[in-house]
Amino acid sequence: MQYADRDQVPMIRCPNYCASKAALHHFILVLREQLKNGPGNIQVIEIFPPAVQTELHDAKHQPDIKNGGQIGMPLKDFTDATWAGLAAGKDQIPVGMSEGSFNGWEQERQKAFHGMNAHIAKMMAQHSE
Ligand SMILES: NC(=O)c1ccc[n+]([C@@H]2O[C@H](COP(=O)([O-])OP(=O)(O)OC[C@H]3O[C@@H](n4cnc5c(N)ncnc54)[C@H](OP(=O)(O)O)[C@@H]3O)[C@@H](O)[C@H]2O)c1
Repeated sequence: MQYADRDQVPMIRCPNYCASKAALHHFILVLREQLKNGPGNIQVIEIFPPAVQTELHDAKHQPDIKNGGQIGMPLKDFTDATWAGLAAGKDQIPVGMSEGSFNGWEQERQKAFHGMNAHIAKMMAQHSE
């Protein structure tokens, strides 16, 4: 299970954070497909959080932000929604504001991902012994 969020829209204030989330998202998409045929029975779960009221925005971590603990969704609301997704057995769990982008362009991205990989699989079948 991994947390990814800023894979969808990067923030100018933190290019490294956003790049790491984007990389993680692509890694998760591929890993899930690779593990579908085993070994074992492994479910790769990705949570797409919105901003959540954790310590991430505290002065300790981001001293230029005032009252950072108030930014985003209350933690209990986030954990309740995430838990509902986990209990339902979902492998992709968008929460709060992340639902809009997940149900929008993320679906287009994943459609393109599956389409391109089906194409590559055919090509590889023709070009491998
Ligand atoms: N909060 C948000 O708005 C938000 C939104 C989207 C995604 N996320 C993602 O959600 C994940 C959790 O973030 P959070 O909001 O819960 O942040 P947080 O309140 O700052 O918690 C981060 C946790 O990670 C631990 N940690 C930090 N560096 C570590 C290391 N090198 N090795 C082991 N543990 C380490 C910290 O432990 P210590 O306290 O002991 O340092 C802390 O328990 C992150 O990947 C974050 O990018 C957060």
